[in-house]
Amino acid sequence: MTDQQKRTTLAGLRAKKTAGEKIVALTAYDCLTASLLAECPVDFILVGDSVANVVLGYSSTLPMTMDEMVYHTKMVVRGAGGVPVIGDMPFLSYELSPEEALRNAGRFIKEAGAAGVKVEGSIDVIPAIRKITSAHIPVLGHVGLKPQSVLELGGYKVQGRTESQARRIRAEARALEEAGVFAVVLECVPRAFAGRLSKALRVPTIGIGAGPACDGQILVTHDLLGWTEKPKKFVKPYASVRAVAREAITAFARDVKAGEFPDAEHSF
Ligand code: KIV
Repeated sequence: MTDQQKRTTLAGLRAKKTAGEKIVALTAYDCLTASLLAECPVDFILVGDSVANVVLGYSSTLPMTMDEMVYHTKMVVRGAGGVPVIGDMPFLSYELSPEEALRNAGRFIKEAGAAGVKVEGSIDVIPAIRKITSAHIPVLGHVGLKPQSVLELGGYKVQGRTESQARRIRAEARALEEAGVFAVVLECVPRAFAGRLSKALRVPTIGIGAGPACDGQILVTHDLLGWTEKPKKFVKPYASVRAVAREAITAFARDVKAGEFPDAEHSF
């Protein structure tokens, strides 16, 4: 049986948690990257609004629009070869009203062919999440460091270090579970706290900068490949794509300048 035939569905992620089998998720923003992930044992692909920082050159995720997120999700679905694709709901696409949230979540499903959506879950948006799950759209929650709250937080800082922060994150995660999410992303929280929260929740936790006790892990693919310039503390670059690409491009430039490319073999 190939990895593709053994693919987990979103509904099957809960069984993985019960069986103690780790869940693997990664980001993609385009068809080419999605097709690469589809060749690997990845349980789901997230079209993160981190596309803003990673490829669009913004300093936060706040400028992303619904049209841009749907555009990127369409590309990813075309390359994903059946791996479930989750579209990340951008800032102000779900906060205004539950009806607006459902309309926007529906765009990821109807226009882009996504399998579900991700929402950064504060208590205020629980009615919106309930509205989306009641329309049978799978929702991935997100607590801990929520990048769309960067202005309020005053930067990208580890969350859950103080008792009041930990209490708030626990309450948000429980409310998300109650609202019917299929899993919860835990971003940048202390590992011991993440372990306790993962045990307390019935739905799987997907960690990023949250230590090894989460039920699964997600990273930005560009970070994992060593393509981005300054990896964060929690990223382990498994390759040096940026260095390899720089070497290749420099070699190309050298050959062009020396009149050695194209040679006979690469000409008609
Ligand atoms: O936007 C994103 O890519 C994310 C994660 C990596 C969890 O939210």
